[in-house]
Amino acid sequence: MARRIAVSTGGGDCPGLNAVIRAVATTLIRDYGIEVFGIETGYDGLLGRGGARVRPLTEATVRGILPEGGTILGTSNRGSPFAMPREGGGTVDRSEEIIRRLNDLDIDTVVTIGGDGSMKIAAQLQDLGVNFVGVPKTIDNDLLITDVTFGFDSAVQVATEAIDRLHSTADSHHRVMIVEVMGRDAGWIALHAGIAGGADVILIPEIPYAIDVVVTSLVKRARSGQKSSIVVVAEGAAEAGAGAMYLDRPASTHSAARRLGGIGNQVAEDIAEACGADTRATVLGHVQRGGSPSPFDRVLATRFGCAAAHLVASGAKGRMVALRGADIIDCAIVDAIAKPKLVDPDGELVRAARSLGVSFGG
Ligand code: F6P
Repeated sequence: MARRIAVSTGGGDCPGLNAVIRAVATTLIRDYGIEVFGIETGYDGLLGRGGARVRPLTEATVRGILPEGGTILGTSNRGSPFAMPREGGGTVDRSEEIIRRLNDLDIDTVVTIGGDGSMKIAAQLQDLGVNFVGVPKTIDNDLLITDVTFGFDSAVQVATEAIDRLHSTADSHHRVMIVEVMGRDAGWIALHAGIAGGADVILIPEIPYAIDVVVTSLVKRARSGQKSSIVVVAEGAAEAGAGAMYLDRPASTHSAARRLGGIGNQVAEDIAEACGADTRATVLGHVQRGGSPSPFDRVLATRFGCAAAHLVASGAKGRMVALRGADIIDCAIVDAIAKPKLVDPDGELVRAARSLGVSFGG
């Protein structure tokens, strides 16, 4: 049976990471007497000049962290150890150093808590002989196999509350309020928060929009006596025939990855220009990732963490825990990253929104 386990949080943070860390460590220690270590700052923690930055996780060190946002271990989304940014440009493959450091630490299995990027790295390292068990995390909810990732519910809660608040000020000023939410190439946050917040228009990457269709629906609302309208825009949404919009600065000084952003302001300008409506754009940004996890995410993260611990103890290799219906199941990590899980444009959720009069702009 496994004896020394490491836990790592990778990619963008989200509410519930600490709940998973607590559940994994506590279950492994209490149920199996397995030693647990936390790797600091994702894979960066294994590549430090002075050696690996790991620390023991004990029942005492994880006590009280359940409701805390962020991750006590820190995280990094600087890219893959197979292509780490090199000083002065280009990338370098540092996967062998990772494997050496884990061997030096005598780690049997790494519990990786991450999204598609972290799972892809885990699958590659698994092929090179490092054993991984995955826990699916991301506010974007874009991982296959699992019905939902933890962090998503908390993000939707924040976005919904923002929409709720915008309704009253929109009404007072007779404005069209545009809310840009995160989600990368998936429209899950926009769709769920839009429905929960009673939005009038929801623009998602999976349904390219035509601005004249959006404007027609807003004008129709105004003519029918509605004082205001709410438009929820996913950061990855794009007009038909155009690509998604990006901010010109790269993700970090170390990475060439591009950051989505700007579509909310663009839509606000386009609507104002087309029909003269008084528009204002709100970009929610990282408030969707910060703060305490919702009760749903605390429970899901705890269930995922406990299930991952039991998987580790059973000797599982390259598996990821997932929620399927009411049950926690496990699947091959490679199956979860085969492609992103996107909103079905003809699915029940989109059809329900359309039945309520929501325009998707296409
Ligand atoms: O993947 C989670 C996410 O919050 C996306 O929704 C968003 O596009 C991205 O991360 C932002 O990343 P960063 O924290 O690097 O700005």
